[in-house]
Amino acid sequence: MRKKVSIVGAGNVGATTAHWIAAKELADIVLVDVVEGVPQGKALDLMEAMPIEKRDVHAVGSNDYAATANSDVVVITAGIPRKPGMSRDDLLQTNYKIMSDVVSKVVAASPDCFLIIVSNPLDAMAQAAYKLSKFNRERVIGMAGVLDSARFRTFIAEELKVSVENVTAFVLGGHGDTMVPLARYSTVAGIPITELMDKATIDRLVQRTRDGGAEIVKYLKTGSAFYAPSAAAVEMVEAILKDKKKILPCAAYLEGEYGIHGLFVGVPCKLGARGLEEIIQIKLTPEEQAGLQKSADSVKELCGVIGV
Ligand code: NAI
Ligand code: 2OP
Repeated sequence: MRKKVSIVGAGNVGATTAHWIAAKELADIVLVDVVEGVPQGKALDLMEAMPIEKRDVHAVGSNDYAATANSDVVVITAGIPRKPGMSRDDLLQTNYKIMSDVVSKVVAASPDCFLIIVSNPLDAMAQAAYKLSKFNRERVIGMAGVLDSARFRTFIAEELKVSVENVTAFVLGGHGDTMVPLARYSTVAGIPITELMDKATIDRLVQRTRDGGAEIVKYLKTGSAFYAPSAAAVEMVEAILKDKKKILPCAAYLEGEYGIHGLFVGVPCKLGARGLEEIIQIKLTPEEQAGLQKSADSVKELCGVIGV
């Protein structure tokens, strides 16, 4: 039987997530949104592309969660995006209300699913979804690190004029201004970038990575990035559906790892058929650990505001 992935929020990120899933023939798709007609229209349009793309994927759109019943994975992208001048944190109250509405309905329809959270502010929304769903931590994972590290990889590849395939990079911490790109663990064909670029260049690329979301918002003016964010969410979905045991930077609920308790923060995670199968603990320098703690503190502050 084919796998089933539901995507809540049929906006830019949600619809493009559906597109990547269909293009990779990963699963049948259900798109859900509060706006009548939009998920139905986008799902039908996507399905009509399948004969051309030679993919056997069934896509359906709905305003009713009954259609999502027994999903293997549910990706939650519902919420408002940033506008120029707004931080991700400015979305907190509105998106928490949306998350509360969505999670209860998702869980009622698919009590055994894995949740991939995308809505911002990411770490606080993942924490909200974890608390609201009452799922164990293996089944609630936030998407941010795959996106942030893909941005870092893009900038490194451009700077050194090498294939993006040669570049790996790691970004830890929350999805915000306090994210912690780890230059030491970022490599080109296995060579640490600290051997290939001077500190000033690395610092410039790190700053551009931190500002990566805002850079796109400034161009788009009416919304935020969606191609790379959706590709990142789909890499996580694929790792779970295909039991790939892939190590990816994800927001996970920490229970003492990296000295952080009871909070979602971005760390290296192993994703497979059991969802979050392992949190990989690497040794950080005092400066990196301080950066991670600062990031965790800002996530904690936001969680405190909404009481999760
Ligand atoms: P969008 O505005 O294009 O789409 C959001 C969709 O959510 C809309 O279609 C809206 O009708 C729907 N929605 C609102 N309330 C809903 C509800 N209660 N139930 C179901 N659907 C509902 O926004 P976009 O660009 O798709 O972004 C979605 C969210 O993802 C935003 O919060 C954005 O900040 C976040 N985001 C997070 C990233 C990350 O790295 N974690 C990256 C990119 C976006
Ligand atoms: C991004 O980083 C808006 O969080 C989103 O593009």
